[in-house]
Amino acid sequence: MYRDPKFLDLIHNRRSIREYTAEPVYREALAAIVEAGRYAPSGMNRQMTTFYIITDQKLLQAISELVSGKLPPFAGRDCRYGAPALILLTNKKENPSALQDSACAMENMMLAACAMGLGSRWINQPYKLSDDPDLRALLAPLGLTDADRVTASLSVGHPAGELFPGPKPRTGNPVVWAE
Ligand SMILES: Cc1cc2nc3c(=O)[nH]c(=O)nc-3n(C[C@H](O)[C@H](O)[C@H](O)COP(=O)(O)O)c2cc1C
Repeated sequence: MYRDPKFLDLIHNRRSIREYTAEPVYREALAAIVEAGRYAPSGMNRQMTTFYIITDQKLLQAISELVSGKLPPFAGRDCRYGAPALILLTNKKENPSALQDSACAMENMMLAACAMGLGSRWINQPYKLSDDPDLRALLAPLGLTDADRVTASLSVGHPAGELFPGPKPRTGNPVVWAE
């Protein structure tokens, strides 16, 4: 049986990172992470995910403030944990596998970030605010149209602590075999 132990180790040891340094992430690194996302599979090979790589600190701040103002649990908190980059995914509203396609891209990107020594974390709030006119107004200058929905976003940065603090035990996710 073919087995790539390094890749399987990466899957087991990947962790979501909540604290980042202020050090910017090289453009090439962000591009490589997004390329990994672009190579994720998509339903019927539709390839309808758009990847917005946001490093404009003013825009990042505006997104965080919008989330803080609209989602009470995030009042006074930065939903992206100060990460210097956010990769925001959109998909076509007409695409029946929009969320599934984005999730595949997200996991590819999280693993790619890890493999490159960078931290990342799924940030769900922009997805929750996909229909919010203020969020849409922030993203419209980048190309968001009425045909698009925000599906996911990923904070990316240099971890302030350990990148691999050890796997989080999986006590859920039951497995059922029928043999
Ligand atoms: C669909 C999804 C949404 C998530 N949303 C958030 C979020 O909004 N904020 C956050 O801090 N972490 C978020 N996470 C990260 C999870 O909290 C994290 O993956 C989980 O605690 C397991 O930890 P691990 O990734 O280190 O194994 C999300 C993860 C997934 C898969």
